[in-house]
Amino acid sequence: MLNFELQNPVKIIFGKDTITKLSQQIPKNATVMLLYGGGSIKKNGVYEAVTNALKDFDYIEFGGIPANPEYDILMDALTIIKAEKIDFLLAVGGGSVIDGVKFLSAAALYEGEEPWDILAKAIRTEIGMPFGTVLTLPATGTEMNSGSVISRREIGQKLGMGGPGLFPKFSILDPTVVASIPKNQIANGITDAFTHVMEQYMTYPVGADLQDRFAEGIMNSLIATAPKVMDNPADYTLAANFMWCCTMALNGLIQKGVPTDWAIHAIGHELTALYGIDHARTLAIIAPRHYQHFLESKKEKLAQYGERVWNITEGTVEERAEAAIEKTEQFFKTLNIPTRLSDYIDQCQGTAEKVSETLKKRGWIALGEHKSVTPEAVKVIVEKSY
Ligand code: NZQ
Ligand code: ZN
Repeated sequence: MLNFELQNPVKIIFGKDTITKLSQQIPKNATVMLLYGGGSIKKNGVYEAVTNALKDFDYIEFGGIPANPEYDILMDALTIIKAEKIDFLLAVGGGSVIDGVKFLSAAALYEGEEPWDILAKAIRTEIGMPFGTVLTLPATGTEMNSGSVISRREIGQKLGMGGPGLFPKFSILDPTVVASIPKNQIANGITDAFTHVMEQYMTYPVGADLQDRFAEGIMNSLIATAPKVMDNPADYTLAANFMWCCTMALNGLIQKGVPTDWAIHAIGHELTALYGIDHARTLAIIAPRHYQHFLESKKEKLAQYGERVWNITEGTVEERAEAAIEKTEQFFKTLNIPTRLSDYIDQCQGTAEKVSETLKKRGWIALGEHKSVTPEAVKVIVEKSY
C-alpha cells in the first residue's frame, strides 16, 4: 500500500426530507446566492423545498447554468456576486451546477486579473468562498470532493481545477430526487460512477486489499442496482443505494494508498469539448479501448476485477482480463449507453489526431499510473473507438 493522507471535511446530510435541514447549515447573517441549472428543480419540488428553507435568509437567485458548466455564463454570475457582496453560495443541481459553483467559489476570492487562469494555469484553490450543495443527480461525486470541471465553448476547452478550498461545507443528499431524473441521465450517472471506480482501481496491484474491496463493493452494488433503478427510480431503497455509490466512488476514499489512472477522463473531456457528448458517454467510448491498449500492464487488476465483480474464473490472466473488458462494455450497453464514437457523430475521421494534438499543445507529456498514456497512445485509443 502506498503512503497517503486523507482529509475530507464535507458534512453529508443524507436521507428523506433532509432539505428542511438546509437553514441550519448556512450562517444566519450570510448573503446567499442560490444557483441552479436549466429548471428541472422547478418541476420536481426541489426549488420549493429549498426556497422554503431559505425564507429567513437574505438571498438572490442565479439560474441557467448549463450541462458542462460554461465559463461565460459563470462570469455573469461572478459579476453579480461581487456587486451584491454575496458571501455564501448554494448549488442546487447535478455535477454541472455544483462544479460551476466551485469555480465561482474560487474566482470570487481570486486576486489575479483573469479567472480563466485558475483553469488554464492549474492554480490550486487554497481558500474559496464557502458554499453548500443540494444534489439532484447522483453521478459525479462532486458533492463530496474538491474538484471541478469547467467548459469554455468559445475556445473548445474543458479543463479541471481543484484544491482544498473547494470542498463543500455541506451536501444534502435526498434520494427522493432520483424519481424525476430521466432514464438517460440515470444511465449516465451509473456509467460515470462506475468509471470513477475503475480509474482508481484498474492499475496494478499494490497489496491494498481493503481499498480493492471497497472499490469492488461499489462496482458490485452499482451493477446490482443499475437495471432496477433505471426501471423504478422512485423506489427509495434503490435510489438511496445508487446515490451513495456515486458519492463514495469519488470522495477520495478509494484512491488512497493506490495508484490511479484518470486517462479515460482526460481523453473523454476532449470528446465533450469537441462534440458536446455527455461526460459519462465519452467514458463508455474510451474505457474499453483504453483497457485493451494497456492490457499488458493492467491485466492483473483486470483479471481480479473480472473474477470478483463478474465471476470470470476460467482462462489465463490475459483471457480473463479480456473477458472483463468485454463484460464492462456489455454493462454500459445494457444501460443504453452506446460505446462507439460513431454512435454519436457522423464523421469520426480526424478526431484522434485532433485530440492528440490538443493534448500536445497543452503540454501534456503522459498520463496514467505508469505515465505511459502519451499523446501518441491517445491517438491510437481514440482511433480504435470510432
Ligand atoms: O439543468 P437542469 O434543468 O437542472 O437539468 C439537468 C441537466 O439537464 C438534469 N437534472 C439534474 N437533476 C435532475 C435533472 N433532471 C430531472 N430531475 C433531476 N433531479 O440532468 C442534466 C444533466 O445534469 P449535469 O449536472 O450536467 O449532469 P452530471 O451530474 O452528470 O454532471 C456532469 C458534469 O460534471 C463533470 C462533468 O465533466 C460534467 O461537466 N464532472 C465533475 C466531476 C467532479 N467535479 O468531481 C467528476 C466527473 O468525472 C465529471 O468530470
Ligand atoms: Zn466522471
